[in-house]
This record gives sequence, C-alpha cells and structure tokens, in this order.
Amino acid sequence: MSLKDLTTVMLPAIEGELQRQVARLDEPRTRTFHEMLTYHMGWTGEGAGLEAQGKRIRPLLVLLSCAACNADWKSALPAAAAIELVHNFSLVHDDIQDNSGKRRGRDTVWVKWGMPQGINAGDALFVLSNQAMLDLAPTHPAETVVKAAKILHDTCLDLTRGQYLDMFYEQRADLTIEDYWPMVSGKTAALLGASCALGSLLSEVDEATQEAYRDFGHYLGLAFQVQDDLLGTWGDSARMGKSAESDLVSGKKSLPMVYGLGKNGPFARRWAEGPVRPEEVAGLAEQLAAEGARLYTQETADQMTALALHSLRMADPQGEAGEALFELANKLLNREA
Ligand code: IPE
Ligand code: IPE
Ligand code: MG
Ligand code: MG
Repeated sequence: MSLKDLTTVMLPAIEGELQRQVARLDEPRTRTFHEMLTYHMGWTGEGAGLEAQGKRIRPLLVLLSCAACNADWKSALPAAAAIELVHNFSLVHDDIQDNSGKRRGRDTVWVKWGMPQGINAGDALFVLSNQAMLDLAPTHPAETVVKAAKILHDTCLDLTRGQYLDMFYEQRADLTIEDYWPMVSGKTAALLGASCALGSLLSEVDEATQEAYRDFGHYLGLAFQVQDDLLGTWGDSARMGKSAESDLVSGKKSLPMVYGLGKNGPFARRWAEGPVRPEEVAGLAEQLAAEGARLYTQETADQMTALALHSLRMADPQGEAGEALFELANKLLNREA
C-alpha cells in the first residue's frame, strides 16, 4: 500500500475516533458548545468538509510511525486523536492570540462565537485530548499509557513556551536566527516530534528507535514551520486558508523576517520606522527576497528536511508504512498551501 492507499484507510479511522472523543460533550443543554467543537473540527456548519478538517498530518504520523514499527496501528487511534485534539486546541487559542479571522478557509471560532467562548472551546479540546489518551488503557500496559500521557503533557508545555516566545517576539526587532529556533521548536516541532515518538512508543520498540522517531518528527516540524513561513510571506493566503494579514503587518518573527532584520539593509530600516501598512506588504516581501531572505528560507527548509530524512533512516521504518513516511516527509515539504 502506498501513502495514498494507507491514508485512504487511516483518515476515516482518525475521523471516527475524533468524533467519538468529541461526542463526550454532546449533551442537549450545551448543544451550541458541542457545535463550536464540531464546527472547528470541520464536521458541521458552513463550509464543513475535508478542506475544513485540515490535513490531519499529526495523527497520520502517529499511525504510520506505529505501523512502521510493525505494530497494529488501530490500537494507536486514541493517541492519534489525542495529538490532533491538542493541535486543534492550540489553533483555537492561537487564532485568538494572533487576532486571526480565518482558519482552514472559514471564520474562526472566536469570530463566530466571541472570544470568551473561543477560549472555553479551546479548553474543552485540551481536556478531551487528555481523556482520549487514557483510552489507550484497555489495549496497552499501564506503564506505556503513563509514558504516553507524559509525552503529551511535556509537549503541551513546550507548546506554551513556543507560543510565549512567538508573542513576546512580536514587539522586538533585535532578534537573531538563534532566537527563532526555540520558538518554532516549541510551537510546531514539539507536537510533530511527539506524534512520531508516540507511534513508536506504542509499538514497544527500543528507546533508541523511539528517539530516532522523535528526531524525525522534530526536524520535520522545523522544516514544516520554515516552509509555512515561506508561504506566509510569499505564498497565496487564500490557498493557505488563513487570514490575509501578512506576518509582515502583525510583526510575527518568521524566518524571512528575522533574516531581513539581521541584514540591516533597506528592509530593516523600513521596519525600524514603525508598523507596516497592508498596502506595503507586497513591496516589502519583494525587498526581503532581493536581500536574500527567500533563498535563505528555502535552503533552511531543505537543510531541516535533510536532517528529518536522516533521522528517519536511523529509525529504520519497516514495510509499506515505512515507505509512506518517507513519501509523506517529501510531500509535506513541497506543499504550496
Ligand atoms: C498549522 O498547522 C499550524 C502550524 C504549525 C503551521 P497545519 O498546517 O498542520 O494545520 P491543519 O491542521 O492542516 O489545518
Ligand atoms: C500556530 O502557529 C502553531 C501553534 C502552535 C498554534 P502560527 O500562528 O505561526 O500559525 P498559523 O499561521 O496561525 O497557522
Ligand atoms: Mg501564532
Ligand atoms: Mg496564528
């Protein structure tokens, strides 16, 4: 089975498990609350459907990593759901933190129901993710379930650290490339690393192999975020399905931005003069590219991809799922949206 065949089988199973987990909140008195979650997950409301569900990359990584360690991926479904629920909790809160009006091509939860309800909906997704992980208990040794829960909790702390830096950096212009990596390690790579670590943990392979899987996910996450920064600066925001407001306006410290500030050229001088207006974005993006930021960002994404693929070779994934992991890594990094 190719990646395509495997995802054709795995994606509906992931969706089913997610729906089962979210259904814990399906009660008559709080129908609208449940609807906020099913809306965000892409199952209900205007524009519901595959696009609105997102790529489900993290749960796929859990299942593929598990299968590539010769275990039955179906037994890892609660962990896959837990990871995707954490991701979605972080997106609901991130859209509030970033003042983003669009997610996966649709209005964000806080735009539809207001910020206080948005925070609460995110909280619910967070708790559901912890409950999902405990559903491993019937099929796995208690010690493994505790280890899995610990991976999830450690990852959530990493995530909040990354988000802290992301927000803290918005006001700052004196950042270097060294400041960039702890931010993206926390906000993006930690969760992808955890996905691969969990898949291998549940198959009970040795710890060195689990480490290699985590490294694979971690570097894949770094490459993924760098690519996201590239698309966020020079890509098509409509295709990305996110808010049109550029990182350049919000002051988000993407890799191109940090690179440009470090150059101390025309881009950095304009930046020092004050907030960027939306009508300046296209010109400034071109200026950044002229100063070498686009090439640098692309080369960095390629470097991180090479590190990810190296770690994956170390993990020595088996069978069709193993091949699918290589295919997924390559596909993810050539995406345009
Ligand atoms: C978006 O992640 C947030 C980042 C870390 C860049 P994805 O691009 O995986 O989002 P969905 O789940 O597919 O929408
Ligand atoms: C989102 O980060 C990743 C999270 C940890 C929530 P960003 O703010 O950089 O990504 P988008 O552009 O909103 O998806
Ligand atoms: Mg953010
Ligand atoms: Mg955001």
